[in-house]
Amino acid sequence: MMNRNIVLFGFMGCGKSTVGAELSANTGRELVDTDRLIEQTEGMTVSRIFAERGEQYFRDAEHRICCELAGRERLIISAGGGALTFPRNIEALRKGCELVLIDVPPEVIYQRLQYDTTRPLLQCEDKMAAIRDLYARRDSIYRQAADHTVNGDQPRGFVALDIMKAVGIL
Ligand code: S3P
Repeated sequence: MMNRNIVLFGFMGCGKSTVGAELSANTGRELVDTDRLIEQTEGMTVSRIFAERGEQYFRDAEHRICCELAGRERLIISAGGGALTFPRNIEALRKGCELVLIDVPPEVIYQRLQYDTTRPLLQCEDKMAAIRDLYARRDSIYRQAADHTVNGDQPRGFVALDIMKAVGIL
């Protein structure tokens, strides 16, 4: 485990960034976020990339970041919600990383993201339906990719502790 990266993944709103910050504080490891790195590299927000360049362009940028991060050590990586649904990213990340799924049911995701405007895939009339649909398509892929699955429907400090136990750094 020692030097392996910890990848946090799961559905939008599952808490990857907040739990990642907690884990980073607890372990002294650097936290990186694939969406923020893509935004820095591309010089625009995820929403604008989707709107102006399209989703495939975003996915290719995301893949490049995943490959880059896979070659580093001791990071806590908060991965965009779609990243670990693509075999090429799962393959790249699984070598040097522990893949941790933060599991949160769709109803809770909806509560958390009801008023969010930053997720292009959920900007539609019926957000609950969009969440349910995407969740149904992704759930089994997430579970298969995961080395560890933790319950994300609890305060962030508890989620962080569960992750540390799961990966063996507690
Ligand atoms: C996406 C999730 C987002 C971001 C993009 C696409 C997805 O990240 O990468 O909007 O396909 O689920 P978060 O999970 O951090 O919201």
